[in-house]
Amino acid sequence: MGGRFYQAYNLTSRNDGAQMAIISDDDEFKNICSEKCVEKSLDTKPEAIAYDKSFENNIRPKTFDSYIGQSGLKETLQISIEAAKRRELPLDHLLFYGPPGLGKTTLAGVISTQMDVPIKITSAPALERPRDIIGILMSLKGGEILFIDEIHRLNKVAEEILYPAMEDFFLDMTTGKGQSVKTLRIPVPKFTLIGATTKAGALSGPLRDRFGIIHRLEFYSTEELTQVVKRTASILELEITEKGAYAIARRSRGTPRIANRLVKRVSDYALVKHDGAITEEIANKALDILKIDDSGLDNTDRCLLRLIIEKYDGGPVGIETLAAALGEDVRTIEDVCEPYLMQAGFLQRTPRGRKVSPEALRYLGYKVDTAQKSLFGEE
Ligand code: ADE
Repeated sequence: MGGRFYQAYNLTSRNDGAQMAIISDDDEFKNICSEKCVEKSLDTKPEAIAYDKSFENNIRPKTFDSYIGQSGLKETLQISIEAAKRRELPLDHLLFYGPPGLGKTTLAGVISTQMDVPIKITSAPALERPRDIIGILMSLKGGEILFIDEIHRLNKVAEEILYPAMEDFFLDMTTGKGQSVKTLRIPVPKFTLIGATTKAGALSGPLRDRFGIIHRLEFYSTEELTQVVKRTASILELEITEKGAYAIARRSRGTPRIANRLVKRVSDYALVKHDGAITEEIANKALDILKIDDSGLDNTDRCLLRLIIEKYDGGPVGIETLAAALGEDVRTIEDVCEPYLMQAGFLQRTPRGRKVSPEALRYLGYKVDTAQKSLFGEE
């Protein structure tokens, strides 16, 4: 392939917290991702994650007034909440789906504040045994919100327990054995289930059908993320210019969670290397050091695109093959890397596998020759 160039890059943790380790035995690919591909970063240590979670919780907006973005969804929710309050009934069950970091948990918290009801937060992998889901349903108070993250990972038994609870506010339990088996209907308080998933398609039909409100969360615009960055900086009492906030927002992959983490990283740099204030120049320097490029791509994204370009002629190539070559979980590639790469127009999902776009080739400095153009359907 003409015009190929290799850039040495460290693969540490992604700026959204996911860790990517290259464990391929393939020498050619090791050359592509040549340096320190398995270097661990501090961000993956449990205490760092716990710190990150508490940071995230501290800056989460609690009301619609302080929640930036998702304006269409906000309006729909405000109406539903007002209607539920006037009827003195719990809100319909809600399902939020979309890429990670766009504020599904935050929105559930906002709804709990606006409805003035408590919220219990759990995630599907924590509801492994029947007694986990039964216990949590029995512990709910009337009107309370139950938030289940990663709801597409709920097992069949837990799902079956949830159906009558969602529909009629009952648990169907059986006691005894053989001929003396009895079915009991145990009432549970009226509650609202809020489910969150990065994979709406992986939800079973019967479960999806039991949600009254289903909404996709969209990537944020750079302007919205600039507001998020300024709000976070103000909570952390950081000095930041408008252009400094914009520079961080621009490289945040349309994702507030990433924007907030970058605020912290850039503020570290501003504090250590300058007087603490975040200007455009300082933000850009700090982000360059973090190897987050102008489009917000990090090492992992570039590694994925280069792998497809250099080893598979631009694709199509199956996701399993890519995951194996990268030593990465299919789910992380699908849920964390791909949504933004597709949104940015660098990657396409086709029935035969993943393909990079001519824009990705140009962006990464490869020449797009005539043959490739026709391959990509440009001629
Ligand atoms: N922090 C994270 N998400 C946010 C949002 N949508 N609005 C304001 N601050 C946020």
